[in-house]
Amino acid sequence: MSGMYWVLTTLAVAKKLDTVQRDQFLDFIDECWDSSSGGYSACPGHDPHILYTLSAVQIAATLDAIERLPSDDIVRYVRSLQNPDGSFAGDRWGEVDTRFSFCAVATLALLGRLHLDDNDNDTDNSIDLESAVRFVLSCQNFDGGFGSRPNAESHAGLIYCCVGFLSVVRRLASIDGDTLAWWLSERQLPSGGLNGRPEKLPDVCYSWWVISSLTMLGRQRWIDSDRLKAYILASQDVETGGFSDRPGDLPDPFHTVFGVAALSLLGEPGLLQVSPTFCMPQQVIDRLGVTSQILS
Ligand code: FPP
Ligand code: ZN
Repeated sequence: MSGMYWVLTTLAVAKKLDTVQRDQFLDFIDECWDSSSGGYSACPGHDPHILYTLSAVQIAATLDAIERLPSDDIVRYVRSLQNPDGSFAGDRWGEVDTRFSFCAVATLALLGRLHLDDNDNDTDNSIDLESAVRFVLSCQNFDGGFGSRPNAESHAGLIYCCVGFLSVVRRLASIDGDTLAWWLSERQLPSGGLNGRPEKLPDVCYSWWVISSLTMLGRQRWIDSDRLKAYILASQDVETGGFSDRPGDLPDPFHTVFGVAALSLLGEPGLLQVSPTFCMPQQVIDRLGVTSQILS
């Protein structure tokens, strides 16, 4: 399911959505729906999971088919995964991680079912937002970064999830943005590429996890964009057009979407503008009337 989201998003951002067989994507989503829980699985016959539920909603949104989704059931599924401390499990087996906090609020926001306004007393506000925010904030470390749980090592992928979560729920002012942006800017290596943690190799997908976070924090200029762009473009395979994790390696759909989405955030011409919060075309987010907080 997430592979379908990566491929579809790449094509949308490259303005090639007209080349996809829309019904094949939508039929696949339907086959992956689990009516008893309300969630979606990675492929037919597998257990539902909140990550694939978000991917299914992202696919439907990009294809302008969100009204076809069983929204009440999806909301029920997301709600069923929240724990008393505000965190979210990924599925009924109970793994807890800040990725799943992001998936929960992003899914609800895309469905138009996240109510942030205190005066909006719609009783279907599906989750306990205050405890969800408290849990994510408790995962910020002394170095400014965020990990998968309280006291877990700072990691750029999980920083995207936590900053994305705070962007969706409009609480970016609650964190120390300067220390976090310092940690993120330290991810740039002499090659121009970005790593996800200290002492790791550069990797094109971290171009996305880092640059999207810096963009939401209004501090994209804290890294050298020209050198990052050059590193991403050097990781494109000239035969297939796909992107790999680093120059010379084999390309794959995961590094392709995050390479292309990062290039869009860096202002590369010829690409649709991408939402740094949702990693989807901004025009899709605007069409749905969904807003997220981006610091200037
Ligand atoms: C690195 O993983 C990336 C992350 C931990 C972030 C994943 C984010 C989500 C699943 C949320 C949904 C995302 C979007 C774009 C809608 P890794 O396992 O490659 O880490 P490693 O480099 O440390 O092995
Ligand atoms: Zn990678």
